[in-house]
Amino acid sequence: MMNLRNITLIKKNRKFKYSRYVKKQLEYDVNKYLNQYTTPLSLEKNKTTLEREIMVLSHTLEKGLSHKEIKPLFGYKVMTQLCEYIKEYSQTTGLDEYILSLGVSIWMEYNKVNSNLNDKLFEIPEHLKKYCNSEVGAFETSKDNYFKYINSNFESFSNSRRSVRLFDTKSDEIPLELIKKAIGLAINAPSACNRQAVRVQIITDKELINKISSIQGGNRGFGENSGALLIIKSNLNYYYPNERRIPMFDCGLFTMNLLYALHFYQLGACVLNGSLSEEQEINLKNVVNINDNEIIASILSVVNIPDDETIKIACSFRRKPDDIIDIN
Ligand SMILES: Cc1cc2nc3c(=O)[nH]c(=O)nc-3n(C[C@H](O)[C@H](O)[C@H](O)COP(=O)(O)O)c2cc1C
Repeated sequence: MMNLRNITLIKKNRKFKYSRYVKKQLEYDVNKYLNQYTTPLSLEKNKTTLEREIMVLSHTLEKGLSHKEIKPLFGYKVMTQLCEYIKEYSQTTGLDEYILSLGVSIWMEYNKVNSNLNDKLFEIPEHLKKYCNSEVGAFETSKDNYFKYINSNFESFSNSRRSVRLFDTKSDEIPLELIKKAIGLAINAPSACNRQAVRVQIITDKELINKISSIQGGNRGFGENSGALLIIKSNLNYYYPNERRIPMFDCGLFTMNLLYALHFYQLGACVLNGSLSEEQEINLKNVVNINDNEIIASILSVVNIPDDETIKIACSFRRKPDDIIDIN
């Protein structure tokens, strides 16, 4: 005979089994991350960590090149490190030519903007010069020029979007209605079972923008010039444990669609890393309302480029399709 006590016990047992199953799913990912994430270069220097470092340092310098006024010898330490890694990497077997080309080209750009530099350290070795590519650094443009392809075909439109970081200019005010219109397009993004669990927190208050920019940390010199920050997050309550990677995936699809939508409405944007540490997240929760059931994917810095302003945009040179395709 089933009595109330038995039913309660059965339910308890089912709950226990379910939580064990949830744990197993999450542990699978934790182990994957633990085994596969690369360590800091100071702990392990190998081909992969060198490649990662060359890409990250090159990007750091590329961002530096997006300033209108470049201070002499900006990023000297970063450049010194990059030169050392490139030289070392160029000796490895089976090297990735894209990475070498990216690093050497940034090195060349750095030397160009510091043409009066007399440091032997920064002389590019002869055998590396053939890797130089002109598609790196930053290009100067106006608002009209930057958005001139917004009504063109998708090929031109897609090729014309880049991250906009307003280093030396403050964004004009952004009408809330325009952001809402862009979000209205972004919501066309597919989502698992059409659950549309992505949420966008819009921050336009200057003081809050400054606080959040300083908590995020990866926007030095341009975050505070944003006209708005958009926190892209997802509600975990909408997902089963075996869908554990989907909240971030849904946010990613939404974010890309939003980037295109903002571009279409002539607003510049730059994704800011939302992989916050526990401490950063606590600090963020102290200034804006983030629920415990929400996971943050990214923060977008959105800008309204002033009409008569000349801005500089990082080129962010890309790989060729064959580089990233595996045909079986
Ligand atoms: C997940 C993610 C995190 C990013 N975080 C930052 C960031 O913290 N700071 C920053 O300046 N750019 C950040 N970016 C922007 C990338 O640097 C940029 O998208 C990349 O260099 C390609 O350039 P593009 O957007 O101009 O095509 C991020 C982009 C993504 C997708």
